[in-house]
Formats: sequence, C-alpha cells, structure tokens
Amino acid sequence: MKFFIDTANLDEIAEAQALGVLDGVTTNPSLMAKEGITGSDNILAHYKRICEIVEGDVSAEVISTDFEGMVKEGEALAALHPQIVVKLPMIADGVKACKYFSDKGIKTNVTLIFSSGQALLAAKAGATYMSPFLGRLDDISTDGLQLIAEIRQIYDNYGFETQILSASVRNTMHVINCAKIGSDVMTGPLSSITGLLKHPLTVSGLAKFLEDYKKGN
Ligand code: G3P
Repeated sequence: MKFFIDTANLDEIAEAQALGVLDGVTTNPSLMAKEGITGSDNILAHYKRICEIVEGDVSAEVISTDFEGMVKEGEALAALHPQIVVKLPMIADGVKACKYFSDKGIKTNVTLIFSSGQALLAAKAGATYMSPFLGRLDDISTDGLQLIAEIRQIYDNYGFETQILSASVRNTMHVINCAKIGSDVMTGPLSSITGLLKHPLTVSGLAKFLEDYKKGN
C-alpha cells in the first residue's frame, strides 16, 4: 500500500519523506488555507516546492466547478511539474474533465467520493486515483471502511486500474484496516504514519538491550 501524506505543511512533508516511506502527497484548498497559502501564484509556487521535497505523485486540486474552468486550471497545474496529479471533484463536470485528462495521459484524482456508485463513475472515466473519504463517513455514523471494501470488490470484479486512494484517514487503525482491505493508497496526517512506529514493548526492549550492552562493556 502506498503512503501519501495529506497536508500542505512543508516541514511535515519533509519529515515523512526523510523517514523513507513516503510515496506522495495530497492537498486540498482547505489544507492550503491552513498553511496560509492564498492567491493562485502563491498556491502554484507552493505545489512546486512540495514536488521538490517528495519523489512521488502530488495531488493539486482545481477550484473551478465547470468543465472549461477545470480543463484550464488542470492543464496549468499539470504543466507545473511532472509529479502533479490533477484533483477533480466528483460532480458531472469533474467526471467529464477526468475523461478529458485521462485521454491526454494526464494523471487524475477524483475526490469527495462517498459512495460505490461514484467510485464506479470515476473508474469508468479513467481516473488514476479516486479518493473515498473514510473519516468523514465515520463522522456521520456510516462505516467508511465498508465503503472501501465495497469499492475494492467492484474494481476487482472488472479489473479497473483506478487506484483506491483512501482519504480522510485519521488514525493508525484506519491505515491498518485500509491495508487489510487492499486499498492501493492511503493518505492521512503525519501522525497516522509515525503512530505506526509506536509500541511500548519496542521501547522497553530497546532500553534493555542497551542496558545489557553497557553491562558487558
Ligand atoms: O484527503 C481528504 C482529506 O483532506 C479530508 O480529510 O480529515 O478533512 O476529513 P478530513
């Protein structure tokens, strides 16, 4: 399973990259705003900085909601850097734009997926990735992991190559359960990645090894 980090924070991206397990980055307009990045020139420059830190795919989201606007914005984003993936919303014009970009060989990520029907449409439009929002479904008492499992089954039934990018991952158990289901990618905060390191027996075991080493030297 690929690990993407879901942030526009350069320090966090660099930390995950330095750990050696990072496969890419996802961003959205809310994450950009959280870092105080506003205005299209600043946003484009920030995407370039992210691409310079990470080796894998970097999802950059359009803010247009009409086909022509999405195509114009998406082409400008794709031209920025070869690692850019054009992120499009799951609305009718987003599906049309996804088909347009996939026909041109430009990578896409269809976002705001909350049903297996939407996942099916994204795959039919040739999306490279599609992002079901696991945590936001859990937030409203709906089983997000059940949706991921359903999409996995549908995609496997027909050999769709669109990658399931489980998004809105909030914690380590989301990561582990996504891996059990066979999600292709997960994207979450840095804590959902570094949290996987933690085990008290690792901490106490290492302390004992070091203590015993010192006794013998
Ligand atoms: O990648 C989608 C993600 O940014 C949404 O996460 O935690 O805002 O639901 P969250």
